[in-house]
Amino acid sequence: MTNAQNTETPAAPRESVTLTDNTSGKVYEMPLLSGSVGPKVIDIRPLYAQTGFFTYDPGFTSTGSCESKITFIDGDHGVLLHRGYAIEDLAEHADFMETAYLLLKGELPSVAQKTKFENDITRHTMLHEQINYFYRAFRRDAHPMAVMCGVMGALSAFYHDSLDISDPHQRMVASYRMIAKVPTIAAWAYKYSTGQPFMYPQNNLNYAENFLHMMFATPCEPYKVNPVVARALDRILILHADHEQNASTSTVRLAGSSGANPFACIAAGIASLWGPAHGGANEAVLNMLTEIGSKDRIPEFLARAKDKNDPFRLMGFGHRVYKNYDPRAKVMQMTCHEVLDELGLRGEPLLELAMELERIALEDPYFVEKKLYPNVDFYSGIIFRAMGIPVSMFTVLFAVARTVGWIAQWNEMIEDPHQKIGRPRQLYTGFPQRTYVPLDARG
Ligand code: CMC
Repeated sequence: MTNAQNTETPAAPRESVTLTDNTSGKVYEMPLLSGSVGPKVIDIRPLYAQTGFFTYDPGFTSTGSCESKITFIDGDHGVLLHRGYAIEDLAEHADFMETAYLLLKGELPSVAQKTKFENDITRHTMLHEQINYFYRAFRRDAHPMAVMCGVMGALSAFYHDSLDISDPHQRMVASYRMIAKVPTIAAWAYKYSTGQPFMYPQNNLNYAENFLHMMFATPCEPYKVNPVVARALDRILILHADHEQNASTSTVRLAGSSGANPFACIAAGIASLWGPAHGGANEAVLNMLTEIGSKDRIPEFLARAKDKNDPFRLMGFGHRVYKNYDPRAKVMQMTCHEVLDELGLRGEPLLELAMELERIALEDPYFVEKKLYPNVDFYSGIIFRAMGIPVSMFTVLFAVARTVGWIAQWNEMIEDPHQKIGRPRQLYTGFPQRTYVPLDARG
């Protein structure tokens, strides 16, 4: 099958493309759908029924899996919009709770709506006390992402009153619970790894402050949250809150498409985020910078990144969608400078190394030709380290922030009248049917 062409004509009742099967000569017409912005999409839903053909698109590089009104990305121009609002504006003017409300409900909240939303979320931050004991079954050296997957999934065993996905009220309660509890789950994963007692959430603190409190406070002395650090963390949460149909979000949607409960779906998203090509990249960036060690070794590592026979990649560089500077990376770089200034860490060797690596890579023909720019993860690890957050918690923080995006996308999917169980097909290249040979006849 070849020759997909746009057959727009003024007289055409609707836009469509034709596909020509060059073997049989048959021509098929497929509708062309327009979103509010962004490329048009060919509606191939009738394809198999009409032609007997599947499409083949490993990695979904050309496939739209759903209709969505939440997030828009123009990767060529470095644009990221949530419900129509630019990420730069949200990072500068909004806070994470406002952004969360926007993602979930579609509009920015009024003052009263924001107050109520914050209050509702705050009242759900505690974990069922029995979950305390659940933690104790993990090894102390468990990776906190393993604990995150386990505890998030286990919430479905604790909150039976919010598992009915056909009930909008129960869906909302489950959504609020997960957004509220995910910082507690994350901070407790850290506390457990250090052997310190769990710190309970405090309702007088905002979302980011509360997380810092649960991470760093101990029962022995008062802990004062640094407002610059809290604001920076809040901004990092905004920058990671949603990102369209990426691997973990698609995982959440796919898990949810079968009718699985919301806690299980978000646990699946956490698992997908863990990988180094996705959310695990912020941890990998810091490990990479540590391995490079000094500026004079940058050329050696760049050469390795360009060598097709070497699996090494420059972590924090490149993106499936952005073929321009990731708009989140720009805000992240600025935030990085703010935090290091505030903490008296200006001149921090890893930041200097990162900036030099970025400068050299952006001038290198390999990275220029392939349009490989720094992504959101390039600077976030340096900020987290300056905040005293251990490397193993970096991806956990990404999961804390992305939970609201996953939930917004999951809710949108459940409410979508076209929603079906996700069930891709394949290009099978294995054996055709063959005759079973009994064991004793196989030699
Ligand atoms: N270093 C060196 N070469 C690279 C890199 C890199 N970081 N990223 C892509 N390339 C090359 C790749 O080898 C390929 O070359 P060729 O065309 O000659 O085979 C070309 O650029 C296109 O790469 P790709 O792997 O086909 O692109 P992709 O869209 O499948 O992968 C990516 C996107 C993000 C997985 C990839 O760029 C990567 O592995 N980056 C490093 C990991 C990273 O920073 N991930 C965080 C992504 S942003 C946060 C998030 O959304 O989770």
